[in-house]
Amino acid sequence: AGQQMWGGRFAGGPNAVMQAINASIDIDKRLYREDLAGSRAHAAMLADCGILSAEDAAAIAGGLDRIETEIEEGRFRFDPALEDIHMHVEARLTDLIGDAGARLHTARSRNDQVATDFRLWVRGAADAIDGQLRGLVLALLAQAEDHADTLMPGFTHLQTAQPVTLGHHLMAYVEMLSRDRGRLADCRRRVNECPLGAAALAGTGFAIDRFKTSADLGFDRPMGNSLDAVSSRDFALEFLGCLTILATHLSRFAEELVIWASAPFHFIRLSDRFSTGSSIMPQKRNPDAAELVRAKVGGVAGSLHQLTLVMKGLPLAYSKDMQEDKAPVFRAVDDVTLCLAAIVGMVEDLQPDRDAMAAAAAQGFSTATDLADWLVRELGLPFRQAHHVTGTVVRIAEEKNLPLDALPLEDMQAVEPRITGDVFSVLSPAASAASRTSYGGTAPANVRAAIGAAREHLARE
Ligand code: ARG
Repeated sequence: AGQQMWGGRFAGGPNAVMQAINASIDIDKRLYREDLAGSRAHAAMLADCGILSAEDAAAIAGGLDRIETEIEEGRFRFDPALEDIHMHVEARLTDLIGDAGARLHTARSRNDQVATDFRLWVRGAADAIDGQLRGLVLALLAQAEDHADTLMPGFTHLQTAQPVTLGHHLMAYVEMLSRDRGRLADCRRRVNECPLGAAALAGTGFAIDRFKTSADLGFDRPMGNSLDAVSSRDFALEFLGCLTILATHLSRFAEELVIWASAPFHFIRLSDRFSTGSSIMPQKRNPDAAELVRAKVGGVAGSLHQLTLVMKGLPLAYSKDMQEDKAPVFRAVDDVTLCLAAIVGMVEDLQPDRDAMAAAAAQGFSTATDLADWLVRELGLPFRQAHHVTGTVVRIAEEKNLPLDALPLEDMQAVEPRITGDVFSVLSPAASAASRTSYGGTAPANVRAAIGAAREHLARE
């Protein structure tokens, strides 16, 4: 029992099941860099404040460097009896440098330590995901620029609605992903506060300098309440919330890729790199990567739900339940990281079929609204009446199996005698899209302006 780091109070060692349920090292070893950084900052601060000798602090710094090398070279021995990454590092440090290592835990608890490590890790993950998002935005901007004029049907209810351009459609995702980046940046501000020095829950009687450790670790400030510092995980919940929303955006885009790549649509071709074959049907090019991105949002949203239920109803301050906070966050970050990489690859390789998209944009009487608008503008019809006239014209066109811009003028005049040949100038999908010049509309000129604005914004970051 004496071998256990907290063994002084115990006569017997833990049962094997106790150890199995208690150990978190398999999961929290991923925090080793953050744990070492936190310990370096803590030791340096203790020395600064005269709580630790300069020699001890130097020995600790050297030992921590050595442990980092051992872990990175795969030579570090992990042992479930040592529970978690914090005890592993401290035990090895004491192996290496003796008493100085055993002094490191002065004015510190694993409770403030793990909260600090985890915040550092989440901060790094948020930055990495933001970098990936930026790359995805750039990939979308490049495609949007190439396809600012490429016509496609815009849908509501997945029914052909009005012509839009592919560039405009892709820029909708640029907007969504830019908000995702904004959400992450906002979340990061609340992540970036330092719990270290809160100790177990009440603070410490040692004259420590929490502002120094906070600054050393790149935090904006030390957290203001020791109980809150060790027991809050809303930073992780908020981060998972950001990832869940982001993953829903990726899943919607992935779903569109799946639909667009299908034979009946044939809007795009996914590259060989991001398609798979069928073991029985030789002709198949399956969009598995897109389907998996569509699906993985389930795991990400599940992680948010999982941690929410872990935290619900926990009394202050630390409870061991909170050890279950890391697995869902790691899982969500791994999934989102992979999904972003897959989506970036698919966007970069995307080969839209301009002709197929333009043909589809002309189907389904997609310019019916343009006819109604013409009746309002040129004949002064109230919109509701124009809607009715146009509906009748569409019914005739459907009976004759003709698109609106191929319907003889006499057929339209049979419904509304004042219609003139000028109407045909608004009935092509290209004219329709080009006319949508209202702010945020699909006109190619607007799309180019939006791309320019987005690029400028990225350049200013
Ligand atoms: N492994 C623990 C966790 O991840 C570290 C904190 C443990 N604190 C304690 N008093 N048992 O939450």
